[in-house]
Amino acid sequence: MNQVIISASILSADFLCLADTIKHLENEGVQMIHLDVMDGHFVPNITIGPKVVESIRNFTSLPLDVHLMIADPAAYLEDFARAGADYISIHPEVDPHIHRSLNRIRELGCKSAIAFNPSTSIEGLPFLLDCLDMVLLMTVNPGFGGQKFIGTMENKIFQVRKMLDRYKETKIRLEVDGGIKDNNCARVVEKGADTLVIGSYLTKKGKIGARVKKIKSIIG
Ligand code: DX5
Ligand code: ZN
Repeated sequence: MNQVIISASILSADFLCLADTIKHLENEGVQMIHLDVMDGHFVPNITIGPKVVESIRNFTSLPLDVHLMIADPAAYLEDFARAGADYISIHPEVDPHIHRSLNRIRELGCKSAIAFNPSTSIEGLPFLLDCLDMVLLMTVNPGFGGQKFIGTMENKIFQVRKMLDRYKETKIRLEVDGGIKDNNCARVVEKGADTLVIGSYLTKKGKIGARVKKIKSIIG
């Protein structure tokens, strides 16, 4: 299995102090920065676009894990690749040609990921494994930071882990996103996740250092 890593989400950070927050996260040893792109259509919130991704790209050497929660992701892949994304995650709920789009992400030189809402079936996943670098399972409904982890997602994590193992796809990362903190990170890793998106738990209360250390001490 892949090493278990933290992809720190800046969604709940103070955007006026993004540089400080990202530097702090980097110094504490998080392995990726998770950037949530929302358009007010696919999800009821609006966040950042390629311009901000580009500024962050020029500031940090950490991989950028760009999570597109927008209505027509296929139309913006090039923009986010050019802005410096390393991973680009897209939702099948808003892309009828997900196989084509995942391949396109790779053609653009990025790593491809599919992101499933909590209620979206993973039935079609075996048909996509050849064009995937990561599977993202939403463990809250997308749109906002600081929501509660949905307990029934534990079984979904386990199902995807079994699927990846069955097809010997051990390099494809399994990312969980939403409500991850100290009291559930061990459990999601036990179920098979190896990439933990963590937002509000790390950035909300100005305790980044102590909180990254705590998570790292739990996940090893
Ligand atoms: C929610 C986003 C998440 C969010 C996670 O739609 O996709 O990446 O930032 O934040 P927390 O860790 O606070 O649930
Ligand atoms: Zn996200």
